[in-house]
Amino acid sequence: MKNPANPVYCGIDTTELEGAARLIQSIAGAPKPAVGGIKLGLEFFLAHGAPGIRYAFPQPVRATGVGFFLDLKLHDIPNTVAGGIRAVADLAPTYITIHASGGRDMLKAAVDEAGVQAAKLNVPRAKLLGVTVLTSLDKSDLVATGVNDEPSDQVLRLASLARAAGLDGCICSPHEIAALRKECGSDFVLMVPGIRPVGSASNDQKRAMTPRQAVDLGATHLVVGRPIYQAASPRGAAEAIAREAGVNDL
Ligand code: C5P
Repeated sequence: MKNPANPVYCGIDTTELEGAARLIQSIAGAPKPAVGGIKLGLEFFLAHGAPGIRYAFPQPVRATGVGFFLDLKLHDIPNTVAGGIRAVADLAPTYITIHASGGRDMLKAAVDEAGVQAAKLNVPRAKLLGVTVLTSLDKSDLVATGVNDEPSDQVLRLASLARAAGLDGCICSPHEIAALRKECGSDFVLMVPGIRPVGSASNDQKRAMTPRQAVDLGATHLVVGRPIYQAASPRGAAEAIAREAGVNDL
């Protein structure tokens, strides 16, 4: 396998500002990040907002080239979602998540606004990733919301909708990678949580895959949280996971 860019995004699920700042500095700071990116989501963002992001993930760390995944899972009317994209644009996220079930007009409004803001701020356009069917939902949950279909079919339907609306990729479980890669083509970003390195605890991830398995199936990025931030050496753990995923120039 050729040496890929580091696909590992560390998911940091905490409201602890100082702890997040130290962790980010240790795994993503100079001289070279041990991860491809950092994922901060609802928990951290609702507690600390944009100032918290700027504090815990400051410009000198961003300048190492590490990616920033702002996992907000937006879902509202088109005008409000566009406003949300506008409100976080100057944080220059690499990726933002948005629920594909919000519909075509909402997805398009988000894509359009990301483009407008990128041009205005002279930063790369935030790439938008669709959330399809949450892995916490099973068929009976879907039926209860009026979707009389298998989760796997609904995932493909929503991913196709996301792609047609101009989104750059989707979040998906390891078990959805192959079908989505086939359905959405080689350029579509597949950001994949539920990853566990060889020999590690699965925690509450019931159907996890190893980094190598997920990359071989076609994942573009791997989201890994606890195996990195609960390790005695988060940097060492991140490097080991990146090596498992085929990165050999850390
Ligand atoms: O600690 P762990 O590696 O399980 O963290 C995985 C990250 O990916 C968490 O931020 C979690 O919210 C997210 N995630 C997930 N499974 C999904 C969707 C998101 O584990 N289906």
